[in-house]
Amino acid sequence: MDTEEKRNWYKTAVFYQIWVRSFADGNGDGIGDLYGVYDKLEYVRSLGVNAIWFNPLYPSPNADYGYDIADYCDIHPDYGDLDQFRKVLDKAHSLGMKVIMDLVINHTSDEHPWFIESRKGKDNPYSDYYIWRDEPNNWDSFLEGNAWEYDPVRGQYYLHLFAKKQPDLNMDNPKVREEVKKILRFWLDMGVDGFREDVINFISKREGLPDGIGFLPMIGSMMHYKDGPHIHEYMKEFREVCDEYGALQIGEGPMTTVSSALRYLSGQSKSLDMMFSFDHMTADCLFTEYIHRPFKLVRLKKALSKWQYKLADKAWNSLYLENHDHPRVLSRYGSERLHRESGTALATAYLFLRGTPFIYQGQEIGMTNIRLRSIDQYMDVSSRTNYYTYHLKDDESRRLKRIHFSSRDSARTPMQWDGTKYAGFSDHKPWFYVNPNYKRINVAKQQFEPDSILNYYRRCITLRSQSRTLLYGSYREYVPGHPYVYLYERRLDNISYLILCSFAKEPLPFLLPKKFRHHKAELVLTNYPSKHKEGESIILPEGGFLLSPYEALVYRMKYR
Ligand code: GLC
Ligand code: CA
Repeated sequence: MDTEEKRNWYKTAVFYQIWVRSFADGNGDGIGDLYGVYDKLEYVRSLGVNAIWFNPLYPSPNADYGYDIADYCDIHPDYGDLDQFRKVLDKAHSLGMKVIMDLVINHTSDEHPWFIESRKGKDNPYSDYYIWRDEPNNWDSFLEGNAWEYDPVRGQYYLHLFAKKQPDLNMDNPKVREEVKKILRFWLDMGVDGFREDVINFISKREGLPDGIGFLPMIGSMMHYKDGPHIHEYMKEFREVCDEYGALQIGEGPMTTVSSALRYLSGQSKSLDMMFSFDHMTADCLFTEYIHRPFKLVRLKKALSKWQYKLADKAWNSLYLENHDHPRVLSRYGSERLHRESGTALATAYLFLRGTPFIYQGQEIGMTNIRLRSIDQYMDVSSRTNYYTYHLKDDESRRLKRIHFSSRDSARTPMQWDGTKYAGFSDHKPWFYVNPNYKRINVAKQQFEPDSILNYYRRCITLRSQSRTLLYGSYREYVPGHPYVYLYERRLDNISYLILCSFAKEPLPFLLPKKFRHHKAELVLTNYPSKHKEGESIILPEGGFLLSPYEALVYRMKYR
């Protein structure tokens, strides 16, 4: 088998993302850990999932919850140790699940030994591991004010594109790239199957670090480090190491466009197997959730279709609606009132697209946003920065409302396993607030409800993984301008699947495009099982449907 073939498993895989601190507490200290994960692996597998992405598990002061790494080759003592990690890895493998790690190499923690050395002065071996200047430029950071922090020990400023405690590594230094390769090998030798690479399109900065456009907060300087001058050379070096192992590489590409993503995903400079893009995450906001606007289905469809069409024969999509950086999708693109209906419609809308789906912990039971009473209760550095930096003239309740819409903390509340105290996450008071709706929304309850969101995810995944058409077929969208219906077709040879989702909160009459009317079809999936029978053969209606709120239907058809 050549390397590409070895990696091909990802095209038929479904990933589950674990943010360990809030997943399951196995040793009763209120913090999720790898003991808890170990016990829940059967559950993860029961979803039909065959790969896991772990958010950073490494020792970290948690200024950005694990994305500020103090040691790349160890496990945070809160989560266990390397032995426990190996146990989790072996068990996951024996259950038929691959495991990928988070690789965060744009920056380290300021408590990483490299930084502790580097700040000591200009003539130590780690001096050029970071980006030091006598004078800062006008770049902003994404998490905490401007991008430069003065270090009194060294007497210079260091660059941090994220929080102050996340100094950027100097990737132009070949020694730093050798360190990265050592980290890759460390985990690959242990048996992990690949990496999710954090803000990977930011690691090469323009020489001289010129000023950006001053009046544009945050993004005004991006042209000087997004897809920077040496990015593809550096990516090639890392790819070579991963190639030796057949390891999977998925890049996180904030603000990436299709055309720049394609340079990582295809052709001569191919260095990644998939990329996480962000276009479809702004259907209810501008750039970031903090700048809220009403949800528009048309925006969501347009973004999804753009990536489906443009990657079609050239590259492979990653599919997600949630992760640890975004508030809960059901609260954003769905309806908390129509909880089951919208949770299942959202699943339908994305799980049958072409690409590899990712499910974030709790998404499969429709966990929703938490609304804390005071900004002091929020832990996420970006929520605090936003609250204390913008809209200062608004009253407190309006500012807090913006945090309710936007905070990453909504994705970081403890997983809701059952209706007992602390939602079955722990028997000790958890490190963070449990969403008060845990008695209504939890795994134990949905496990036994045949039509629950949880069981619907399972059905979608089964259907998907058993159909070559749904895995490999082409994608075509219909009625793109329709404000409430997402309709697309997947087709391979003469078999096709028609995926129809209403995003309306009211019953909605809908007329199929002409080409489908009167066509013979089999209903293979519905989120309204009381209304229709799965497995039923029907003739698609001439006169149209009356779709129930958030109704989702998947039909299988044959072309002659
Ligand atoms: C990525 C991570 C996010 C983190 C940032 C800085 O976007 O997903 O959680 O804050 O990078 O590492
Ligand atoms: Ca624990």
